[in-house]
Amino acid sequence: MPDIYVDPDAIPDEILDGMKESLERRAATPQQATALQSYLGDVDFPNGARVLDIGCGTGPQSRTIAAIPGVGEVVGVDQLEPFLERGRELAVDLRNVSFEQADARDLPFDDASFDVVVLHTLLTHVPGPEGVLSEVHRVLKAGGSVAIYDGDFTTMSVATGDDDPLQACIDAFVDDNVHDRWLVRRLPGMLREIGFDPAATRSHGHLDTDAPVLTLGWTLRGAYYLVAAGKIDQAAADALGAEAHRRIDGGTFYGYMNYVSMVARKT
Ligand SMILES: C[S@@+](CC[C@H](N)C(=O)[O-])C[C@H]1O[C@@H](n2cnc3c(N)ncnc32)[C@H](O)[C@@H]1O
Repeated sequence: MPDIYVDPDAIPDEILDGMKESLERRAATPQQATALQSYLGDVDFPNGARVLDIGCGTGPQSRTIAAIPGVGEVVGVDQLEPFLERGRELAVDLRNVSFEQADARDLPFDDASFDVVVLHTLLTHVPGPEGVLSEVHRVLKAGGSVAIYDGDFTTMSVATGDDDPLQACIDAFVDDNVHDRWLVRRLPGMLREIGFDPAATRSHGHLDTDAPVLTLGWTLRGAYYLVAAGKIDQAAADALGAEAHRRIDGGTFYGYMNYVSMVARKT
C-alpha cells in the first residue's frame, strides 16, 4: 500500500480523527518539543518575519513559531481541510496565525513573499519532493531560510532482538505511511541542486521506553495496516498490541527513530 498521505481522500474517517489527535500528542511530547526548539534556534527570523509552515497538519508547529518574539505572521498550509479546521480551532486565540488549503507542489503565494519556510515532517510523504523544494525556493525572499525536520525512517525500530514480531508492525507502518524512507539522507544534495546553501544540520534521536507515545502509536497503526492488507487477522493484530502493552507494563518496551533537521538559505 502507498503512503496514506498520497491519496488523502481515501483515508477512512476514523483513521483521520485518530491522526489529528496523534499529531497533537506527538508534538506535545518533551522530546519532540525540544527538537523543534532546537532547530528553530538555527533559523534567522528577521523582525516581523512572515513564515510559511507547509504540511502543517493541525498546526502545532505554526502555534509555536507564532509565539517566537519578532515573528510577524505564520501561514499554515496543508492538503487536508479537516486538519486545517482543527488547526483553526486550536489557534483561535492567536491573531498572527492563519491556515489555507494548498498542495505543497503548487503554492498559491507570490514569488519572494516569505522570510522563512518550515517543512516539519512533510517531505518524506510527498511524491516529488524536488517540486516542493522548488516552490519553497520560489516563495522565499533572497537570503530567506528553509527549515526541514523529518524522520530517517530507515532507523525506525521497536525490535529488541532478531525476528521480533513487533518490528513487522513498524515495517508495515513505514510502508503505508511514508513515501520515501531514505529521503533525509539525500536532502543536502537535493537542496544544493535547487539553489539552497545547507547550513545547520542536526540529528534528534527519539527514544521511547516507559510512556511510548510515538512508537506505540506506530506499532498499533502498523498492526491495523497488516490486517487491512490481509496479511494477518484481527486476533493476531490484537495479540501484537497486547505484546506491546505487556512490554510497556513490564518496563521492557524500546522504540526508536532518528529525526534530522536541516536549515538552508536561498542563495
Ligand atoms: C506527518 S504530518 C505532519 C503534520 C505537522 N507538520 C506535524 O508535525 O504535526 C504530514 C502532513 O503533510 C500533509 N501533506 C502531505 N502531502 C502534502 C502535499 N502534497 N501538500 C500539502 N500537504 C501535504 C499531510 O496532509 C499531513 O498533514
